[in-house]
Amino acid sequence: MAEAKSGRDIIRGLLDPASIGRRARVEGWVRTRRTGKDFTFLEVNDGSSLANLQVVADASLPGYSEIPHITTGSSVIVSGTIVESQGKGQAVEMQAEVVTAVQTAAPDFPLQKKRHGFEFLREISHLRVRSNTFGAVFRVRNAMFFIVHEYFQKRGFICLQAPVITASDAEGAGEMFRVTTLDSERGSGSPGGGDGAGGGEDFFGRKASLTVSGQLEAEIFAHAFHDVYSFGPTFRAENSNTSRHAAEFWMIEPEMAFCDLAGNRRLAEDFIKTIVAGTLERCGADMAFFDQRIEPGLLDKLDRLLASDFETVTYTEAVAMLEASGENFEYPVGWGLDLQSEHERYLTEKKIGRPTFVIDYPKEIKAFYMRLNDDGRTVAAMDLLVPGVGEIIGGSQREEREDALRARMAEMQIPLDEYWWYLELRKYGSVPHSGFGLGFDRALMYFTGMSNIRDVVPFPRTPGHVEF
Ligand code: 4AD
Ligand code: MG
Repeated sequence: MAEAKSGRDIIRGLLDPASIGRRARVEGWVRTRRTGKDFTFLEVNDGSSLANLQVVADASLPGYSEIPHITTGSSVIVSGTIVESQGKGQAVEMQAEVVTAVQTAAPDFPLQKKRHGFEFLREISHLRVRSNTFGAVFRVRNAMFFIVHEYFQKRGFICLQAPVITASDAEGAGEMFRVTTLDSERGSGSPGGGDGAGGGEDFFGRKASLTVSGQLEAEIFAHAFHDVYSFGPTFRAENSNTSRHAAEFWMIEPEMAFCDLAGNRRLAEDFIKTIVAGTLERCGADMAFFDQRIEPGLLDKLDRLLASDFETVTYTEAVAMLEASGENFEYPVGWGLDLQSEHERYLTEKKIGRPTFVIDYPKEIKAFYMRLNDDGRTVAAMDLLVPGVGEIIGGSQREEREDALRARMAEMQIPLDEYWWYLELRKYGSVPHSGFGLGFDRALMYFTGMSNIRDVVPFPRTPGHVEF
């Protein structure tokens, strides 16, 4: 490789013993400084890897007197030669020739050497990205983002960008954030002006909201492109203050024409396994860090996931398992009742011990678009439950029969006229089709062992929290 003089070198690429003898220039932030009698050690991190580059600055360097004053958190540019490290803990280090402090951080920089609680770090989301844990989290998140697109692109899926603002409630659960230009305080808005009570026009002339899912639009695309996916932000105004719910989260939603529930399950399992394998390959050091510091046994768990088949049980079987469990659940169990998180976790963690699809739920507890099974009581739904997190995927085969869909929507009091286009898909070239939504943030929790969704989302939005 040519010597890098003008551009910067990425630290991750320098840590390999193969770079010994290279001259390099790095730009980054100081994690720690130790000053001895004749030299100063700086640990420099540029976000490219968990490991820092150890920089050794000899007291004989011109301008050395500044270096012992460089604080943790300072931004620096360092040039020098990569040499074999004499110390333990790293294979290589940089023998500095020039050290420039771009800005010396104030001494109260909050991320000092000691370990901080995640709750405290959430309050400093503008700085927590410079810690080991959050560096690892967001590198893995980045790798997953890439692998998701790669997975679908390699298989010929077309990516659609579903709208963020929409008039339809794809889940029919009424958990939408309103989008409006009407000012409820002053009773007027723009454009259009007027006031809500006085009949003024809102921007779209009708009720609009932030999307809860791109599924309905993905179904449209699937009827033209066969296999499609949407991967974008989705929003839910659920007031649930749990470790697994965010008001804004990302969802990956594949939708496939000419595909039934079994095909849907196969894709979901293959997809999850591919993301896990790809993440382990791209982010080995970060994943080893999670195994050591966050969830002991994580790597074994993921190896087992790759090596074994996911389980499938029907909702009816799941309820029977819960009833026979002898567990003292907080929420009641019974056919027709929705599974609560404690039930999901019992099934996948204690009873089955691996990722489990629960299929064929009672129609009353699932969304209007799911295909009615021949028993007339259940729908072709599939939730994927995983140990530690619970539900990470919700999906189904869709109701492709116009009459059955109309009947179901009427039963659920969904205004048919607002979904005229959704119904028309069933009139012109309708086809059995299926899809699912994988919660990107929940998947990241599962793959890293991070136990709170607030710690895998860059800037989490939850009830009462919209800072940063
Ligand atoms: O099960 P859900 O509600 O399914 C749908 O929205 C379907 N329209 C998807 C489809 O078939 N195309 O949500 C799908 C997944 C959940 O399994 C969960 O992983 C995640 O989205 N999810 C949330 N993640 C974080 N915070 C929330 N509030 C979430 N709500 C759902
Ligand atoms: Mg769900």
